[in-house]
Amino acid sequence: MAEQDDALFQEIVQWLEANPEAKVSLRLILYYGQRCKRGTLLRLNWSRVADSMTELLAGLLTKQPTCSVALSGGKTPETLYLLLASRHYQNALDWTRVHLFWGDERYVPHDDLRSNYRMAYEAWLYKASFPPENIHPMPTHYADPEEAARAYESELRAYFGEDAPLPQFDLVLLGLGDDGHIASLFPGDPALEETTRWVVPSRAPVEPHQRLTLTLPVLNAAPRIWFLVSGASKRPVIAQLFHAENADFPAARITPGAERFWWLSEELYAAALAETW
Ligand code: 6PG
Repeated sequence: MAEQDDALFQEIVQWLEANPEAKVSLRLILYYGQRCKRGTLLRLNWSRVADSMTELLAGLLTKQPTCSVALSGGKTPETLYLLLASRHYQNALDWTRVHLFWGDERYVPHDDLRSNYRMAYEAWLYKASFPPENIHPMPTHYADPEEAARAYESELRAYFGEDAPLPQFDLVLLGLGDDGHIASLFPGDPALEETTRWVVPSRAPVEPHQRLTLTLPVLNAAPRIWFLVSGASKRPVIAQLFHAENADFPAARITPGAERFWWLSEELYAAALAETW
């Protein structure tokens, strides 16, 4: 290797040692990923998601006192949360330095079977070693969802800083609906057009209609977004997302980037790949 190449190589190695979280992302992109216009396609392998997520968080904790994750709801991520509850992942890092938030919530009591908080609690949190103050569920006990949204924004500001222009979650997990919704940002809902507030009430076309959701500016401010998507019913929206030039549903409003990881189940990965070429 020529001398200047060797110097550059050494510089890269040193940079990676100083930024272990970047190693995780680069490995996924280089070993397992397929670059595409919206980011990086990855086959949804739950152990690889859990391994990468814990290695990412551990890497970040070598450089910062705490880290923050915005959890997704629905059914798909339950497999990940069940894995993370296992002893192997519980011992993978100091979870007492990890803060969990939610990307959205159904406006139902936290003990309601439809609650995203309840799903995560029953799959993972009740067995994990998080201090209670590290778990930040969206409040759903206010009579007025607007008040709940304002309360959650205050909780975000308490963690990210009162003067922060936007909260920067270290990792945002998102699902995808077969109508292209993300979090609880549904097609045609005014919440999708919010440009300043961090948290707003929104309306879903399916029960429970009332929701709370992070807004697009907040989601797009995240350096890393991992979409966890499975279900054959999402094939048409995936095909449009990775093929149509003018896909305009909510998921298409996420700014592209190398660390927009699209973890797709086999049938969806094939659909996205087929459309990518
Ligand atoms: C919710 C979610 C929502 C979900 C998608 C996919 O509250 O329902 O946050 O955005 O991620 O609807 O849901 P499934 O994983 O159940 O398909």
